[in-house]
Amino acid sequence: MRLCKAQRFRYANADMADLEEKLKEAQACRFRIIVTDGVFSMDGNVAPMDKICALAEKYDALVMVDESHSAGVVGPTGHGVAEQFNCYGRIDIFTGTLGKAFGGAVGGFTTGRKEIIDMLRQRSRPYLFSNSIPPMVAGAALETFRILKESNALHDKLQANVNYFRDKMLAAGFDIKPTQSAICAVMLYDAPLSQKFAAQMAQEGIFVTGFYYPVVPKGQARIRVQLSAAHEKSHLDKAIAAFIKVGKELGVIK
Ligand SMILES: Cc1ncc(COP(=O)(O)O)c(C=O)c1O
Repeated sequence: MRLCKAQRFRYANADMADLEEKLKEAQACRFRIIVTDGVFSMDGNVAPMDKICALAEKYDALVMVDESHSAGVVGPTGHGVAEQFNCYGRIDIFTGTLGKAFGGAVGGFTTGRKEIIDMLRQRSRPYLFSNSIPPMVAGAALETFRILKESNALHDKLQANVNYFRDKMLAAGFDIKPTQSAICAVMLYDAPLSQKFAAQMAQEGIFVTGFYYPVVPKGQARIRVQLSAAHEKSHLDKAIAAFIKVGKELGVIK
């Protein structure tokens, strides 16, 4: 937005009525583009892509989705929110990172219609004037995509891990945001408590991060857990046991 000096309209998170209002306000502009995350990284909820695409068609807007938290995770075969909402062909630009589900390397990608990508290759300054990712990272990423195409086993395992962790944590009495992704937000609502909780978890051998304002709204502090297909049941059980121990010590659960 800064580079092309576009006018910015902000709508409330996944709020379609608000988006529609902003699209109406933007009708005088020459072009419109709706930009959304696929999965919102703090709560783990997904963007309603079918509704976003319908509004884009109604108000003549392009659609761009950042699938950084959804690619490899969401949708029956992990192809992201476009797959989950069956919106292929209705989304103009996708971005994603190689730094999350695809193995935690650096780098990322932008993809979409050929005309758009051709234009970006000539006009995108961060792309033109920056070195590309290292060849070994590109090679490893290509191999990751090959593995994921070959079988859905890792994606299925991730889903099972999320369900297992979420169900056990809810049963233990923790307050977990309803997740639709690999993100499980364990709500604590108190900033100092979230830091203390994370520090005590580290002593139990579990690395988790406590988030508080301004990363999340005031009074919404939490521990954000991201499940992985590399986790085995024993890892999850160890993490859940640590959560229960620390949760009891700090009076979060009974
Ligand atoms: C929605 C979203 N997009 C992009 C990124 C950043 O990805 P990268 O580290 O590859 O720039 C993040 C990082 O957390 C993210 O949450």
